[in-house]
Amino acid sequence: MTTTVPGPADTRDVDAHEKDIMRYRTVSGPDLTTRNDPYLAWQRDREQADLWPYFRRYETSALTPRATVVSDAGVVTEGPNFGGQDYLSLTSHPAVLEAAHQALRDYGPLTAGSPALGGATPVSKALEAGLAQALRTDHVALFPTGWASGFGTIRALMHRRDHILLDKLSHDSLRQGAAASGASVEFFRHLDNDAVRRHLAGIRATDTENAVLVVTEGVFSMDSDTPRLAELLGICREFGAQLMVDVAHDFGAMGEHGGGQPEVHGILGQVDFVVGAFSKTFATTGGFLATPSASAREYVRMFGGPQTFSSAITPVQTAVALAALNIVNSPEGARRRAAVAAVATRLREGLVARGLEVMGDVVCPVVPVLIGDTPTGRVASGLIARAGLVAHLVEQPAVASDAARFRMQAMADHTAADVDTAIDILDRCIRKAREARDTV
Ligand SMILES: Cc1ncc(COP(=O)(O)O)c(C=O)c1O
Repeated sequence: MTTTVPGPADTRDVDAHEKDIMRYRTVSGPDLTTRNDPYLAWQRDREQADLWPYFRRYETSALTPRATVVSDAGVVTEGPNFGGQDYLSLTSHPAVLEAAHQALRDYGPLTAGSPALGGATPVSKALEAGLAQALRTDHVALFPTGWASGFGTIRALMHRRDHILLDKLSHDSLRQGAAASGASVEFFRHLDNDAVRRHLAGIRATDTENAVLVVTEGVFSMDSDTPRLAELLGICREFGAQLMVDVAHDFGAMGEHGGGQPEVHGILGQVDFVVGAFSKTFATTGGFLATPSASAREYVRMFGGPQTFSSAITPVQTAVALAALNIVNSPEGARRRAAVAAVATRLREGLVARGLEVMGDVVCPVVPVLIGDTPTGRVASGLIARAGLVAHLVEQPAVASDAARFRMQAMADHTAADVDTAIDILDRCIRKAREARDTV
């Protein structure tokens, strides 16, 4: 079969360039099988114009420092891979691979059902105990994905008369959990603790009877920034609110002992609800809730949808996460954290030296490179794929339409040469995309 590879991005294709995905987000019409046809036509236009960076497939492991990726249109990208999120490079670690094989031999590929109906194994008990120790909190429940942990916890705990205050840039899983819970939902300005205080004062002025949950993240992965967590926890305590922190991107990868931003901010073990994902640092899919409250844990296990109505995390996932956690907690984990921080710093400094705008103020594995307007991002993305760099463009709805960016994700095993190649390609292609845009 021959594949037709489209030419480099055609800057005259105005629709594919300019049209915002959000114009297709609200659709009406009686026929569900045809009313999304205009959306498909727009997607096809973008594919044809080489402006469609989504649903590419990895032909190699997705988490090696160098990889091969192929788009649906047949564009092959072979080169440094800054699109994976194996921050400590544990997916290829011999102890992790051996744990996966052993779990497969011991327990097979699947659990009996949901955690409520026989989904646990001795390995899941050991993982819960390990996470409880690492996060200094007594009670842990496992989920099949990180998304499910945020969604299921909020959905279970919060009720119609309660209040949820979310950082404006909170992850989709947290927002959807809040919406599904039926509680009243407010958003506060990103990272703004004073705004949280104002919201809480307003809520508590009229309602001292019901619960208030303040929701934030350890590291916001689209922006590479972090809240002042100790202060935020103090504000929650002042108003009788509870704090939830999603540590998907920082737990394991940041903090002297890998305790993520709660450790960095000196509040490990004090946060009411910590949710997280294994899919960044722990080499597999899955997630967890950690809480000092025994009753909240049991309640979420019974009423958190994915706990009761979705099959449990498999033995292989569980064993991989446990093996990764053991490394995270060891001196080798500390060395790997230092290695990924060095990669991220080299990348950040190199890009800034070329005049590119790198977002965020914490040294963390995520290095977002701001492009700004979405059309320029789309053109740059096509050029970057052809130039041999695996890097994902993030555009609306994940970020605002004037804040498109490349989310570069560093891994401990990236070499200096991988980083330098990435800097060169990004610099060259973003400049070219901006020039093309200026001449339209
Ligand atoms: C803050 C946050 N929470 C949850 C998730 C979902 O994790 P998973 O992909 O493991 O379901 C992500 C994924 O990127 C995330 O960034």
